[in-house]
Amino acid sequence: MTDTVPAQYTGPRRILSGIQASGALHLGNYLGALKRFTQLQDTGAPCFLFVADLHAITVWQDPALLTAQTREIAAAYLASGLDPAKSVIFPQSAVRAHTELAWMFNCVARLGWLDRMTQFKEKTGKHKERASVGLYTYPVLQAADILLYKATEVPTGEDQKQHLELTRDIAAKFNNDFNVPGFFPLPEPLTQGPAPRVMSLRDGAAKMSKSDPSDASRINLIDDADTIVAKIRKAKTDPEALPETVEGLDGRAEAKNLVTIYAALADETKEQVLAEWGGKGFGAFKPALAELAVASMAPVTAEMRRLMADTAEIDRVLKDGAERAAEIADPVVDEVKKIIGFWRG
Ligand code: ADP
Ligand code: TRP
Repeated sequence: MTDTVPAQYTGPRRILSGIQASGALHLGNYLGALKRFTQLQDTGAPCFLFVADLHAITVWQDPALLTAQTREIAAAYLASGLDPAKSVIFPQSAVRAHTELAWMFNCVARLGWLDRMTQFKEKTGKHKERASVGLYTYPVLQAADILLYKATEVPTGEDQKQHLELTRDIAAKFNNDFNVPGFFPLPEPLTQGPAPRVMSLRDGAAKMSKSDPSDASRINLIDDADTIVAKIRKAKTDPEALPETVEGLDGRAEAKNLVTIYAALADETKEQVLAEWGGKGFGAFKPALAELAVASMAPVTAEMRRLMADTAEIDRVLKDGAERAAEIADPVVDEVKKIIGFWRG
């Protein structure tokens, strides 16, 4: 086998990402993930986008809500502009190969690697012994999600970079341990979007996150126009006018965040935004940002509401996506089992 498998991965480009089926989506998810996915959809490589429901249950999920949450993420994918004819959209748990490969990767990954994962430490704090085992091996399942499709590019926010490094380590160790060089690709993280790390509206040092107890810290995809306007009006800023240059934003985390959001929503660079707004105060900038945010988000919100009102369309997309995903994933997991040496009859 080693004679025929090249040292470098030579398979086709494939783009893959997932969003957890847990709770409401916010502007950080939209700019850091959803909007990026729609841009990548037309780059010529097939896109696999799933709802990470297996990851969601690493913390408690109410069974009565999980299905609705799954549909809501699928609705967000569609409402953001993903086309199910071009992109494969599916629930992770509907493709059995994810959990199967995750187990095998649990036996490839080392405890020391997982001990370094900062997201686990952030999520558990002082209460590590009460966390589920699944939360600990969460990044291993993520590696399985990615390598099952031999994905070469993984767009996510910056917070996922460490999980991508672990995925590369697992791929390299598998290829090496089983002497199958180039079997798995070493996927590239794509974190270079216009807004890879949208910050809280209340604290420029904290990431905008659904787990922040303050609802005023984030703009939710389901917020109505009045709420968006009010949240931006109350967003924390400093008393200075906006600078003329991007360097002038250094040390002004809140100002930098609002300019970044404006630029990402308007599809402009920060330089372009500051060319227009440099020297002007937040009294003028905030209403313009609010107007832009409402205009950008309103169609997405409306389409999400439409899709959620009658879930037949979403369910059709998810079912079809799960079938197309399994067509790629099942043969890969079969090959892995063969490489490991499992009995095949
Ligand atoms: P959260 O961090 O709110 O729990 P998820 O972990 O479900 O959100 O993230 C889903 C996607 O959105 C991932 O690609 C993640 O990197 C991205 N993302 C989350 N928060 C932000 C943010 N504040 N800025 C940019 N991207 C983000
Ligand atoms: N861990 C990711 C997050 O919280 C979600 C995710 C699960 C994912 N599997 C993935 C992202 C595979 C990219 C690729 O955002």
